[in-house]
Amino acid sequence: MTSPVTLAVDDGIAEITIDLPPVNAINQAIRTGLLECFRKAIADDSVQAIVLLAAGRTYMAGADINEFDTGVGEPAYYDVFRVIENSDKIVVTALHGTALGGGLETALACHYRCADANARMGLPELSLGIIPGAGGSQRLPRLIGAKAAVETVFGIVPIKAEKALELGLIDKIVDGDLRRGAISWTKELVQQGASPRRTGEMDVDVTGYDDDFLAEMRTLAGKRMRGQEAPERLLEAVAVATKLPLEEGLVEEKRIGDAAVASAESEALRHVFFAEREVTKVPGIGKSASRIEVETVGILGSGTMGTGIGIVFGNAGYTVRIIDPSRESLDKCKAAIEKTQASQVGRGRMDQATAADMLSRMSYVTSYDALADVDLAIEAVFEDMNLKKEIFAKLDEICKPGAILASNSSTLNIDDMAACTARPASVVGLHFFSPANIMKLLEIVRAGKTSKEVLATAVDIGKRIRKVAVVVGIGGTFGFVGNRMMVKGYIREADQMLLEGASVQEVDKAIYDFGLPMGPWTMNDMGGVDIMCSVLESTGARAANPEPFYNVTLALGEAGLLGQKTGQGFYRYEKGDRTPIYDPSIENIIAGEAERLNVGRKSLTADEIQQRCIFGLINEGARILEEGLVYRASDIDVIWIYGYGFPRFRGGPMFYADQIGLDKVYETVRGYHETLGNYWQPAPLLEQFAKEGRKFADWAPE
Ligand SMILES: NC(=O)c1ccc[n+]([C@@H]2O[C@H](COP(=O)([O-])OP(=O)(O)OC[C@H]3O[C@@H](n4cnc5c(N)ncnc54)[C@H](O)[C@@H]3O)[C@@H](O)[C@H]2O)c1
Repeated sequence: MTSPVTLAVDDGIAEITIDLPPVNAINQAIRTGLLECFRKAIADDSVQAIVLLAAGRTYMAGADINEFDTGVGEPAYYDVFRVIENSDKIVVTALHGTALGGGLETALACHYRCADANARMGLPELSLGIIPGAGGSQRLPRLIGAKAAVETVFGIVPIKAEKALELGLIDKIVDGDLRRGAISWTKELVQQGASPRRTGEMDVDVTGYDDDFLAEMRTLAGKRMRGQEAPERLLEAVAVATKLPLEEGLVEEKRIGDAAVASAESEALRHVFFAEREVTKVPGIGKSASRIEVETVGILGSGTMGTGIGIVFGNAGYTVRIIDPSRESLDKCKAAIEKTQASQVGRGRMDQATAADMLSRMSYVTSYDALADVDLAIEAVFEDMNLKKEIFAKLDEICKPGAILASNSSTLNIDDMAACTARPASVVGLHFFSPANIMKLLEIVRAGKTSKEVLATAVDIGKRIRKVAVVVGIGGTFGFVGNRMMVKGYIREADQMLLEGASVQEVDKAIYDFGLPMGPWTMNDMGGVDIMCSVLESTGARAANPEPFYNVTLALGEAGLLGQKTGQGFYRYEKGDRTPIYDPSIENIIAGEAERLNVGRKSLTADEIQQRCIFGLINEGARILEEGLVYRASDIDVIWIYGYGFPRFRGGPMFYADQIGLDKVYETVRGYHETLGNYWQPAPLLEQFAKEGRKFADWAPE
């Protein structure tokens, strides 16, 4: 096999080039090649200096993360980097594209670094629950100081070349051709008699790296990486760098890093990393599947969702027409979109011209005629099946042949809407989450007759509008995946526990502590208790259950305690302020409901609250797998992470179940079935997999 690393010597300069498309991810072959080429170049008397380059669109964008599972084979990173760093000939490297993780760590082991002006670099390891290994935690503080090193790693987002130059991470920005620039700079360095400048021999600058700074960083990590251990491990490793020489520091880095790799948190974060990539693979609709060209999009309904969806499509370059019979609603929608764009410009996230271009492609009309030539129509009108059916019949009449007709319904049966048209193959669900311009998830709901072409187009649209799009629901179903699990597993259980004696605050705190951004009742107040009540009715979730579920939610709905919009729901709100204020009087309503339903009351522990809510999700998720509504269990994890804020570091509900062990999950669910009632019937798939010692990750549709 030819090596991805080559060596060429010309005019006293050894040029070592890594070429492993698409992103030069460092693997065993690259490490082996680097070691061989460096050894050869160092031993070659005609070589005065060495330049390390990467071919293609980027410098090494990271280590090959498959090696987490297979283990890093010989030669080890440390051995390769030791040879590079100890070279007595100067080693220069040139960065372009994104130099991340193991890529940047390679650069840190070189003596001099230059970069293209557009290069970005960073050590994003914390996002995978690990710390920069391969010397990253020891060399970065030596090169740029302990304070900047912690800030850079905690920042996760790669920094630009200019910032890197300011920090001393690179020595030079090269204008024009990077390779040529790097070689001529190397020649200059040789002429100046520059000697190897080994990062490992530098002292760590500890200016500003004091207790106050560390406290500030811990607060930041507590916000951005709540519940995760990796930030603390990084601080430990950087502290080592400030105290020990490189070789001893590397031993410590390895000890801390190995523990991080083995942690449940890192296992979960790596799972999510792969799950996000898997989700884009939809069986049967590969690259060769035909697509429908979509440039003009009609959106029906200019309410909360219509407005958000309008922003999403406008920003992705589509021509957008928003249609609503209410002029007042359209005016509000237009004002909201203009305000959002202005705020993006104000914050420096968008330039004026881009915002103006987007706004020029938006129109707001009351007449349905505007739909005649759209390529895609998305309805986002009230969640009312009769209205949706009427709308679909109208769309079928007005829209040109071949146009895609989509519904943003969050719970209703897409098949029933498709049946109102003469083109059910063109109908698909595009379920956005609120606020649509912020939430990353898009559930693409495949109805019974949705064509492959429409589905393939929907997946492409998902990419263009930069959403994490998950195809769900092979065959018609209501509630799809996310909301069905939320209503049937999670909200049901949270509501039951209120009746049984847990306070609103206790339930929310337990869920927040588990890692979700907010508990179910804060969420309900935000979305509107009335909306949840209508979801319960429209999904049939309430009617389908013989037991008296969702009583507290429905009681609040009936009492007009609708949450933020009425100033009182599960919590109280001051005028103009969305901070939930706990008002113990809410417990009287709940106690009244419990008495009416004859539910005995007791106190519940935080562990029990978490377990019942999360296992409720898992059990419903198992039924969804059984019904074949997703392509893989990890799709459910992606939905819950991006749509509902399930903590990434727990990997999503299905992975979390696998990590606990399905036998244990099954036993607990069986216990609930005995003590709490029939509604906790374990899903047959959970039972089967538990008994067979399998994981949800092993599941595949038939
Ligand atoms: N709000 C959410 O959190 C959320 C999330 C996902 C999906 N959804 C779904 O999105 C849809 C819209 O929800 P929303 O929160 O934006 O509602 P909304 O009440 O804010 O907006 C509905 C809009 O539809 C308009 N409308 C009514 N009849 C119409 C007609 N015949 N033609 C065109 N427009 C018409 C109304 O004037 C109103 O502006 C619902 O199906 C809902 O289930 C909502």
